[in-house]
Amino acid sequence: MTHPMDPESPIAPKVEIDTLCNELAALALISEHEPPVVTRVVFNQADLRAREYVKNLCEEAWLTITEDAIGNTFARWHGSEPDLAPIATGSHIDAIPNAGSYDGTVGVLGGLEAIRSLQRAGFHPRRSIELIIFTAEEPTRFGIGCLGSRMMGHVLSPDAARALRDKQDQSLDHLRKEAGFTGLLESIELPVGRFHQFVELHIEQGPLLEQEGIDVGLVTHIAAPASMRVLIEGEGGHAGGKLMPGRKDALVAAAELILAIEAAAKSTGDVSTVATVGVCDVFPGAVNSIPSRVKLETDIRDIDGPRRDSVITAIKVACAEIALKRGVVIHTEMVNADPPTTCDPVILDAMEASAIEAGRTYRRMVARAYHDSSFMACIAPVAMLFIPCRGGVSHRPDEFASPEWIAGGLEVLARTLARLAS
Ligand code: GLV
Ligand code: MN
Ligand code: MN
Repeated sequence: MTHPMDPESPIAPKVEIDTLCNELAALALISEHEPPVVTRVVFNQADLRAREYVKNLCEEAWLTITEDAIGNTFARWHGSEPDLAPIATGSHIDAIPNAGSYDGTVGVLGGLEAIRSLQRAGFHPRRSIELIIFTAEEPTRFGIGCLGSRMMGHVLSPDAARALRDKQDQSLDHLRKEAGFTGLLESIELPVGRFHQFVELHIEQGPLLEQEGIDVGLVTHIAAPASMRVLIEGEGGHAGGKLMPGRKDALVAAAELILAIEAAAKSTGDVSTVATVGVCDVFPGAVNSIPSRVKLETDIRDIDGPRRDSVITAIKVACAEIALKRGVVIHTEMVNADPPTTCDPVILDAMEASAIEAGRTYRRMVARAYHDSSFMACIAPVAMLFIPCRGGVSHRPDEFASPEWIAGGLEVLARTLARLAS
């Protein structure tokens, strides 16, 4: 048996990069929008078809598939000691509106190709290796990111999940059952020890690896994400008849608040603090009607949790000041405020040894996007492996990772999985 920990006989995974790139391209065509735009909102037809596509590939690789009550999917390559907790890898295949082809999918199809490359090399894992396809890493439909892993890691309770509704007021519970995931929500959470270790391959979604010409990033920390809903209630009226003095225009208050949010993020003086208002719904949304109600959704992140929280406090203070000044009512609701994640030194060392063995350059780095790894960290040691993406671009149709970059990540991921599963 080939044994990757034996320096005399390091495993040499046989990565078929063309096959993987063809699969990534085929998956990208399963979209709610015309190519090159990828949109796959959880439980919509494209998401369900994409799941079928990936599950078929997993079955062709002789993996055993199970699904939980929210559609988290587990595809297992059985190890020789089935009682040992498995090594897991994976990511997500849902995609925000107007996304590209690589966010999440590189970790799913790449994870599968890493497994197949080890199978081709004749490797036999001692621990099982499990590929996970997480449900709804993106917050598009229910407003909260990493839904599947959040529930697995007990960070979102079944009752809180039951309360989630989309913009059409359809409940998560109804939609997941309609999609065929009918078990008890209580059965999703997994115990510590269910997985021995978890490693996620992902595009960097930032520019550093490409700029520095480095093959892979070994992620030591994942930034702390938070998201806040803001509802501004002003007073509507006729855009011609109601004169400017005394107006309580909810959208003008929102404009002032958006600038205050930007200022709050900049005020820390550290580039790691970021805040974005990505959703602004205006009611009634007629050109000749003063906006009476505005809903904002704000995303606030930092690698430093307390500093991120100080920005949230500053935003709440700004809400109170603007409400007073403009005579509007402002309600805030925290959707989530997650802590930063520290990656596991044992997995980091395994990735480093694998990068050296594969002849790939590497550096340690911080993940600024959020990932399912953050919630897997509640139940298992985790780490992430980044590959470059062109211009650092992500969440856009022109997101791109070259076959060579992906192959570099796979060489390291496959060796890492082999090490951890031996
Ligand atoms: C995940 O896509 C994120 O927004 O970081
Ligand atoms: Mn994303
Ligand atoms: Mn992602």
